[in-house]
Amino acid sequence: CGIVGYIGHREAYPIVMEGLKRLEYRGYDSAGIALYDGTDIKLSKTKGKVADLEERVKEEITTEGTIGIGHTRWATHGVPNDVNSHPHYSNSGDLVIIHNGIIENYDSIKTELIKRGYVFKSDTDTEVLINLIEEVKKKQNVKLGKAVQLALNEVVGAYAIAVFDKNKPNEIVVAKLGSPLAIGIGDDEFFIASDASPFIEYTKNAIYLEDEEMAIVRRDKKIKIRKIKDDSEVNPSMQELKFNLEQIEKGGYEHFMLKEIHEQPNAIRDTYRGRLLAKEGIIRMAGIDDNIEKFLNANRIIIVACGTSWHAGLVAEYIFEDLARIPVEVEYASEFRYRNPVITEKDVVIAISQSGETADTLAAIKLAKSKGAFVFGVCNVVGSTIARETNAGAYTHAGPEIGVASTKAFTTQITVLTLIALKLAKANGSMSNSVFHHHLQELELIPEKVKEALKADEHIKKVAEIYKDAKNCLYLGRGYNFPVALEGALKLKEISYIHAEGYPAAEMKHGPIALIDEQMPVFVIATKKGHYEKVVSNIQEIKSRSGKIIGIVTTGDVDVKNVADHVIEVPETIESLTPLLTTIPLQLLSYHIAVMLEKNVDQPRNLAKSVTVE
Ligand code: G6P
Repeated sequence: CGIVGYIGHREAYPIVMEGLKRLEYRGYDSAGIALYDGTDIKLSKTKGKVADLEERVKEEITTEGTIGIGHTRWATHGVPNDVNSHPHYSNSGDLVIIHNGIIENYDSIKTELIKRGYVFKSDTDTEVLINLIEEVKKKQNVKLGKAVQLALNEVVGAYAIAVFDKNKPNEIVVAKLGSPLAIGIGDDEFFIASDASPFIEYTKNAIYLEDEEMAIVRRDKKIKIRKIKDDSEVNPSMQELKFNLEQIEKGGYEHFMLKEIHEQPNAIRDTYRGRLLAKEGIIRMAGIDDNIEKFLNANRIIIVACGTSWHAGLVAEYIFEDLARIPVEVEYASEFRYRNPVITEKDVVIAISQSGETADTLAAIKLAKSKGAFVFGVCNVVGSTIARETNAGAYTHAGPEIGVASTKAFTTQITVLTLIALKLAKANGSMSNSVFHHHLQELELIPEKVKEALKADEHIKKVAEIYKDAKNCLYLGRGYNFPVALEGALKLKEISYIHAEGYPAAEMKHGPIALIDEQMPVFVIATKKGHYEKVVSNIQEIKSRSGKIIGIVTTGDVDVKNVADHVIEVPETIESLTPLLTTIPLQLLSYHIAVMLEKNVDQPRNLAKSVTVE
């Protein structure tokens, strides 16, 4: 999940290797490096950490050379192993590439290249890309830069790449779409990296490539930037780097959690990239397509998960039952595994896990498999234990999540589960074509709406300031937004250590209402779609007991605004997608409260990112 490159007059090896260490914070599972020593490319790569790579390099290659590229991989296609690690050679061995991102149409390109005699060593989309570049270069007899450009015009997906040719070892070609790419400009030398952290001590001048731009960096020459689509030249806009190392790692945000909250528009887009084809009215998911009968013949779906992933499971219960009319049960993995549950071959079990390593979830999967159920995984970490143990699955593609309190993993899990539910709803006839199309279109709009919801940040900060000293908080929601209330309360608990409880809004009168007084902030999710009038009545009940009400409402709402102490607006969408929006302000709210209370936001006490013990 990080790239580094160097071309200039210094030894490339230490710069690239130290650069990879700087990028370790981004999360990765394998690493590799390629250098040109004056006669040939030296390449070394391994599953594991950068420290493992250093060991491997000592055994395998010499490290001279003034041009080099390095990579830390966070698997997307193909499990983490030595062969799938980057850099990748082209078939001739002349070209090498490092790549962050996903090439969606790699499969069809691969088939075509195989027909033309290309052989593939790895399962990666990246090896397909470098061979496509080679094929274009040979067939059209063009220079490397042109070949990269022509090849990129054939691919669909996201990328930050760096490529060089051993026959022209005075240039590196880089290109960007979706994944970040910074170029550090020194005196007759260039640095390439996913962010400026690997080269901050060498130069303060950087160019950040924009999407669909490529650059050719040549030793001793001025940098040339072009648009990939139409080849037009772009004037480089140099920036002076003002951040320190830590600030760069966090993308300029104060904490990883805040960075990850703000990454959600892109993360959600990455989740449905290549799967949701709204115009064509198609959802493509190999894991479901290949096993559609299992789902269609299932008596019910059992969802097992822990923590935030369990909350995503609860949202999925509403989605599956409402849209696809399939009965769903959602279980804490830790309870399920020990209570002698009734499971049969007619059950489909969906296990949800960001890390793919949670011990209880894994045990629940093993139990379900032993009873003959078909087990489907929804994981973020590619090649993780749960991803391997399940019969099939779909990755969330949210990118590494570093903050212990889960944010983008949650919204991307919901996105994947929505895609699955819609696919099944269409397949089993529960949803008409036109409603299906409408859902696809609305889902496609979600990233922009999340962006819009994030704009309330300053206002949310003010609300946080008012309630930061509360001892208890209540979160209420109904229907699709009941699990969001649970997740909102969990977020606050996890990072601010304030006691918080999530409740179905109507259940409040069976208990929590006894706690309500003027000290008690109550966060109520009351969007226009979703039992709005009922929730407004619940709000009245709180108001008449002097509770403080903070409403999460649809933009332009008046009714809740009239009674609530504060409202936070989110854009309107269809009911089943509201959790993707209503979650956002609750994440920000917890974040700001924890910061104001000076808590360790990214690593809250007693909690772990991945719980591998039961
Ligand atoms: C831990 C983490 C939570 C996470 C839960 C489940 O408690 O702190 O953020 O939701 O584990 O983890 P998983 O990786 O299985 O989603």
